[in-house]
Amino acid sequence: MSRIAKVVLAYSGGLDTSVAVRWIAERYQCEIVTFCADVGQDEDLEAARQKALAVGAKKAVVRDLRREFVRDYVFPALRAGAIYEDGYLMGTALARPCIAAALVEVARAEGTDTIAHGATGKGNDQVRFELTAHYFMPGVRVIAPWREWEFTGRTQLIAYSQEHKIPIDATPEKPYSIDRNLLHNSIEGGLLEDPWNEPSDDVFELTRAPEQAPDTPRYVEIEFAAGNPVALDGETLQPDELLARLNQIAGEHGVGRVDIVENRMVGLKSRGVYETPGGTVLHVARRAVESITLDREAMHLRDDLSSRYASLVYNGLWFSPEREALQSLVDEMARQVNGTARVKLYKGSAITVGRKSDQSLYRADLATFDDETPYNHADAGGFIRTTALRLRIHSEQKQRAASGK
Ligand code: ARG
Repeated sequence: MSRIAKVVLAYSGGLDTSVAVRWIAERYQCEIVTFCADVGQDEDLEAARQKALAVGAKKAVVRDLRREFVRDYVFPALRAGAIYEDGYLMGTALARPCIAAALVEVARAEGTDTIAHGATGKGNDQVRFELTAHYFMPGVRVIAPWREWEFTGRTQLIAYSQEHKIPIDATPEKPYSIDRNLLHNSIEGGLLEDPWNEPSDDVFELTRAPEQAPDTPRYVEIEFAAGNPVALDGETLQPDELLARLNQIAGEHGVGRVDIVENRMVGLKSRGVYETPGGTVLHVARRAVESITLDREAMHLRDDLSSRYASLVYNGLWFSPEREALQSLVDEMARQVNGTARVKLYKGSAITVGRKSDQSLYRADLATFDDETPYNHADAGGFIRTTALRLRIHSEQKQRAASGK
């Protein structure tokens, strides 16, 4: 491997990536450029930028990716109905390809083929970062300090920071691994490593405990156009604004907490606690609008594909021919998904109470229990007898076999 002159490091401002700046610079004797993406983590990124420079980066780049993240990653996954293992709305899995794509752009602009990240060798994030990097920059070189350095845990990283005068936050950080963005907040590790331990309320940042939520429900109306949420309570909003506002409202009502044990790509199970307030409401609302606008068989086909889509995104394959092919299919169906859902938020729950669409397939005149409909009841008899034919044949054959004839 030829000498590395410059590395672009995905930087968060936290302990691991701050240590990584110094460690990479020493180990590889190269110049470090840090790249920090704003995906709505609500942190002081100018402070992070200054910190990167203070710990030894030659240049520190910050980019606002909030709109891109929601419009080009969160909404496409929403249109696909993608939820991993029936519970995880994939806030982290969707943010990684978005960040990594921009990281590679910065590397290219800086004239280097080498990127670095602070993800550990045990998690999914390393896979997501690197697969994306390979997609955009064939031949990319990757430095993953966690897979190389001798440190095995936080205590050693802290000791290294002290030794090298790397400023670390005075307040001891929460003993959890947190990853926050506009879609979710993810909490792992610490006391949660015992899957029997209930998370204490102080781990949550985006949602109020349902038992402390207001006693009066809040109704929200979400309008969809071609499967994308476009307006909230009648006000047209940009994707990131809509999600931010919905997070606020739904979080207040304790909506969107999940506590699961999930299967990581690397083969181990891990316990994850997530809060996805706005995203949860969007999935409920999407389903409501789909229920009146999508044909039954088209919707069932899409439903069959949702979990496949979710798995491949979870596994880091956002940028892959298979995700792109699935996306075209679900987007073709999503073109029909135009309408509005009315959702009631109350102490942790988000329940659809109304749905409407100008292109609704719901026919009150057909569904009604009050008669005089154009539906002919007698038709059902023939349909059922025809459907039952093969069941009858099967049953008669079984009886013959049992009686030995
Ligand atoms: N387990 C989730 C996932 O793989 C969340 C990961 C959060 N990442 C983190 N570095 N804390 O998508």
